[in-house]
Amino acid sequence: SSQCRIAPSILSADFARLGEEVRNVVEAGADWIHFDVMDNHYVPNLTVGPLVCEAIRPHVQVPIDVHLMVEPVDSIIPMFAKAGADYITFHCEASRHIDRTLSLIHDCGCKAGLVFNPSTPLNYLEYVLDKVDLILLMSVNPGFGGQSFIPSVMNKIVAARNIIDRHTQATGHQVFLEIDGGVKVENIGALAAAGADTFVAGSAIFGKKTPSGYKEVIAQMREA
Ligand code: DX5
Ligand code: ZN
Repeated sequence: SSQCRIAPSILSADFARLGEEVRNVVEAGADWIHFDVMDNHYVPNLTVGPLVCEAIRPHVQVPIDVHLMVEPVDSIIPMFAKAGADYITFHCEASRHIDRTLSLIHDCGCKAGLVFNPSTPLNYLEYVLDKVDLILLMSVNPGFGGQSFIPSVMNKIVAARNIIDRHTQATGHQVFLEIDGGVKVENIGALAAAGADTFVAGSAIFGKKTPSGYKEVIAQMREA
């Protein structure tokens, strides 16, 4: 639906043509660009940093959703804010002081998100939800594109949706619920029905290789 956000992950894009790739997915209907940052320390893979975020920034108008899979996180946050990030998300286990990191992201002028690995409990939200603009539930273990969706995350989406709805009712504060990992045309309808409103998809979109393929799959996802 039009209430949902589709955020293609650049992880599966052609990095040699990244500017063109992000322009193509946005023209194809993407709402956000999901920017995966891996450090070969918090996760066993290595991707890109603030320089590449800054390089793609002028190519698109849509929000850039920076997913930090790095540890420590605090030192890199101001650099991504300067590089044009709109949302900055980090993993619960990668920050010594979650409340401080959320405040730091806001102080840098960005929206803040907390990321939950498949095994990470939602309890971390209890005392910080007022500082969270985005909850990102990982539906694969972070580090690689193209993995399969872990089914137990479905119940977690329902639980997070309840937490968000109660909080929004009490405070008026809006919080997005984003799912990352193994999202496809075939399961996106069930994810939305469970309560997700923002969908990261890497291989399902960029795997199509062509602008017309991107357009087709994004339209199918929105329809589903
Ligand atoms: C995984 C990344 C994801 C990844 C998703 O650690 O955070 O954003 O690109 O890729 P797919 O959609 O292929 O599972
Ligand atoms: Zn991601």
